[in-house]
Amino acid sequence: MSYQEEFNASKENPEKFWGEKAKALKWFKKPEKILSQDKHGIHHWFADGEMNTAYMALDYHVENGRADQAALIYDSPVTNTKKTYTYRELRDEVALCAGMLKELGTTKGDRVIIYMPMIPEAAIAMLACARLGAIHSVVFGGFAAPELAIRIDDAKPKVILSASCGIEIARVIEYKPLIDNAIDIANHTPDHCVVYQRGEKTADLKQARDVDWATAMSKATPADCTPVKGDDLLYILYTSGTTGKPKGVVRENGGHAVAMKYSMKAIYDINPGDVFWAASDVGWVVGHSYIIYAPLLHGCTTILYEGKPIMTPDAGAFWRVVEEYKVKALFTAPTAFRAIKKEDPNTELAKQYDLSSLETLFSAGERLDPPTYDWLTEQFGLPVIDHWWQTETGWAISANMRGIEKMPVKAGSSTVPCPGYHVQILDENGKELPANTQGNIAIKLPLPPSCLTTVWEDMDRFKASYLETYPGFYVSGDGGYLDDDGYLFVMGRVDDVINVAGHRLSTGEMEEIIGKHEVVAECAVIGRNDELKGQMPTGFVVLKNGVEASDEEICKALILLVRQEIGAVASFKEVYIVPRLPKTRSGKILRKTMRQIFNGEDYIVPSTIDDPESLTEIQDLVA
Ligand code: COA
Ligand code: AMP
Repeated sequence: MSYQEEFNASKENPEKFWGEKAKALKWFKKPEKILSQDKHGIHHWFADGEMNTAYMALDYHVENGRADQAALIYDSPVTNTKKTYTYRELRDEVALCAGMLKELGTTKGDRVIIYMPMIPEAAIAMLACARLGAIHSVVFGGFAAPELAIRIDDAKPKVILSASCGIEIARVIEYKPLIDNAIDIANHTPDHCVVYQRGEKTADLKQARDVDWATAMSKATPADCTPVKGDDLLYILYTSGTTGKPKGVVRENGGHAVAMKYSMKAIYDINPGDVFWAASDVGWVVGHSYIIYAPLLHGCTTILYEGKPIMTPDAGAFWRVVEEYKVKALFTAPTAFRAIKKEDPNTELAKQYDLSSLETLFSAGERLDPPTYDWLTEQFGLPVIDHWWQTETGWAISANMRGIEKMPVKAGSSTVPCPGYHVQILDENGKELPANTQGNIAIKLPLPPSCLTTVWEDMDRFKASYLETYPGFYVSGDGGYLDDDGYLFVMGRVDDVINVAGHRLSTGEMEEIIGKHEVVAECAVIGRNDELKGQMPTGFVVLKNGVEASDEEICKALILLVRQEIGAVASFKEVYIVPRLPKTRSGKILRKTMRQIFNGEDYIVPSTIDDPESLTEIQDLVA
């Protein structure tokens, strides 16, 4: 079947199309309602099916010939550890961890926050929640205590699962003080905090709520899989919106499992038994989908890598892993490829490894810039596939469907919409734009399986953020265009979300934090282009009258403040004190113009500008 035939089939009869795909999985009770709508008019897939995601991902394979196949390989250059779990071993660990959670009072529908580094216990914890029908919410380790507190208050977890520390190259980051601090800040208090003690740094477990992971696991009895409905939630994953409060993207079990399974062959051209590696972090959606769920649902071997593309120990790290485990497809963010390109431009390090197992390189997280695309294709002689997706969807919206039809690649394009996604480019009034014209990328409803069905406990926000701009459409927040061949070019966000080293951050949230500082009258944060990280946040601050501290002291304090409030991952390192911010006469800050100036792009001085001198001041900063 060609891509076009597959896409047309998904469009003409979505229920038939996805109903067929659902048959690839082992349900306890097959879904009869393939697509339904709730009282809010929101679509759900496979609502009445009965299943368990952890069963489909583990037990099913143990029972069907894969018990002794490697399911998960842990490779940690930062601790010099390598460990392989077969499907049977992983299933048994997960069942035990589910038993531990059960004994701590966790039942179906309860939330569990997982704040862990890239260790196997993080994967075990996620799958254990799935086994119990509990809803996990993984929080990326680079977020600071206040960010964790926001998520604790929103998700109201019964239990937090964590580890004593994370390791950033050689730096040990203690997690326990951070968690204690977050629980102090939060209004909600979890019943228990289970800590996996790592040799590099153990934590004091003094609080009554603290539980030692190893002790609790040694006493636990394995738990069976709890059947859940297709529309029961598997997880909540918080992602940056335009305000300070992150959005709790929810994922339903049924649609997620079907989309994950389908995508492994259709997009990645991966077969059961193959080795698939997503070099990301379990704290991000890529990690959820392609380190944990999709490869396991498909019966593959997945790799959990606790290291960086460079410095652990060098830019050959990824290629060492590819050779060692015979990786068939590698998926990472452009920033990781750029970091390798900078350190090893002529791929001298890569040439030291046998990369013959590697068939395809996949990239997502931000647009794969054409120079990096060119470098990768020239140096490695492999297909390099950019594909576009969001936390909200859980899988690619547009891609080169390698397992269906290997379409020609165009540098800078994420190829074509995946089956189920009816992508249109709309103008400000919701009118469809012709080919080659840039506008807002929207997706006609219903969205395909796996996409969010609300923002956790906030239907109004879900509707306002995604559904009300263009009735009948999901608005992606990204801008771009379709060319004459139907190839999609995603050019960047049209809102205040930025992408720093593949990490999604909100400039609005940074502005809220900076704006709270006592010396700040007003501020703006923009994303400026960065060769390595794609974008870097840059702040502009107007001080209140009569501030005595020096500009240097103030800048340092603001940088520290953002690091303390959001975390190191914000990479907020550049801030300028300015006499005023460029604004329109109605008081709107001209962030777009400031960004264009900082990025050396052409710009038009808006006719509505209040004081043209304010733009000259920004230009002077660049000079
Ligand atoms: N826990 C604690 N701190 C973390 C962290 C974690 N899990 N991840 C990152 N940080 C810290 C870093 O140590 C760094 O701290 P610093 O400011 O004190 O140096 C800061 O957060 C910024 O990190 P990052 O933006 O990742 O930059 P880096 O300079 O450490 O590394 C790259 C640059 C390109 C090597 C790295 O960003 C990378 O591997 N990116 C891939 C991103 C990715 O996989 N994204 C997933 C989407 S597919
Ligand atoms: P996240 O939710 O963290 O996955 O970030 C999603 C955002 O990252 C999208 O809205 C895009 O702005 C950006 N993004 C991800 N992948 C791509 C891609 N392949 N091309 C362009 N932008 C991308």
